[in-house]
Amino acid sequence: METITTHQRPIWLNPSGNIVQVIDQRLLPHQYAVLSLETVDDVIAAIRDMVVRGAPLIGVTAAYGVYLAVLNSRKQSCPDSYLDAECQRLISARPTAVNLSWAVKQVRRRVGEAAAYDDRVKAAMDEAERITQAEVENCRQIGLHGLSIIQEIAGKKPGQTVNILTHCNAGWLACVEYGTATAPIYAAASRGMDIHVWVDETRPLNQGARLTAWELGQGGVRHTVITDNAGGHLMQHGLVDMVIVGSDRATRTGDIANKIGTYLKALAAKDNHVPFYVALPSSTFDWELSDGVAGIPIEEREPDEVRYVQGASDNAIVRVLVPPAKSPAANFAFDVTPARLITGLITENGVCRADETDICRLFPEKFREKP
Ligand code: MRU
Repeated sequence: METITTHQRPIWLNPSGNIVQVIDQRLLPHQYAVLSLETVDDVIAAIRDMVVRGAPLIGVTAAYGVYLAVLNSRKQSCPDSYLDAECQRLISARPTAVNLSWAVKQVRRRVGEAAAYDDRVKAAMDEAERITQAEVENCRQIGLHGLSIIQEIAGKKPGQTVNILTHCNAGWLACVEYGTATAPIYAAASRGMDIHVWVDETRPLNQGARLTAWELGQGGVRHTVITDNAGGHLMQHGLVDMVIVGSDRATRTGDIANKIGTYLKALAAKDNHVPFYVALPSSTFDWELSDGVAGIPIEEREPDEVRYVQGASDNAIVRVLVPPAKSPAANFAFDVTPARLITGLITENGVCRADETDICRLFPEKFREKP
């Protein structure tokens, strides 16, 4: 069984293997540009400034960041103290997506098993590539597991369109290939199912309007961009069959953090009996956390991201100021949706309820490990 993929990735190594290249997601959909990351500082800036974004891609980019730290450490012969400090700097680039620290620790552990410089470089590259491939396969599996849910919904309304609402961008741009929330959508579309996607624009940076709409358009998936506040109205009128979103961090009890506004969609879905699913790989679970609202760090970004809106005019990308010049703004980048509002979690190991017992059924080894 194959799902649609564009066979394009948002990250790759240059042919000599010493430069990480990424699509600059800040410019999409109006301009396509590739940036070269050669140092840990470049990687940190790319994550912080959201050249790359989306939980799994942040993790993959940071994994290559550790590789660059090792590669560029010849002068220091890569002592552990230097490497640990570089890893810590990478982890601090953005706070909410747990994939970042998870991936950095994975690569750091592998490097620690080697002693000589060349062996450490090889270990770092191998692990970064292994994580990348594993995330691709995770998303492929999420697509197949999510597909059965879409098929079940389609079976209840034969001959009619299945309308799926999504928030932010949890597509291949955020994940290397397939995406998390989009993987079931691509899987259904590639099988000829009649699918239509409501794309929340996702203020302030409009990842939905800019990135998800661009991706779905390239994949030939029918979609409509809506304002962030339209979802409740559409649900009241029977125009949404299911919601699928991604996540940046999930607790062992099934609370999830995702792009700001996700919680309000979950509340509206609950009130309207619309199934609300979260698609996420195991790298997005924070196995030590039980209470998402209390424990998940929520990033606060520059207020100017709220005050200004970016778009294209005469083939140039421009930013315009919306509120009065002196009005302050606040920019909370994520919110937490409590498990009680979530119909199910779609993971690479299958679909489960958003509760500790059922998550443990899919990932028993994570519950055996000491925190
Ligand atoms: O601030 P961003 O663009 O990194 O936020 C991304 C999201 O919130 C995505 O929905 C989430 O990372 C899931 S990605 C598969």
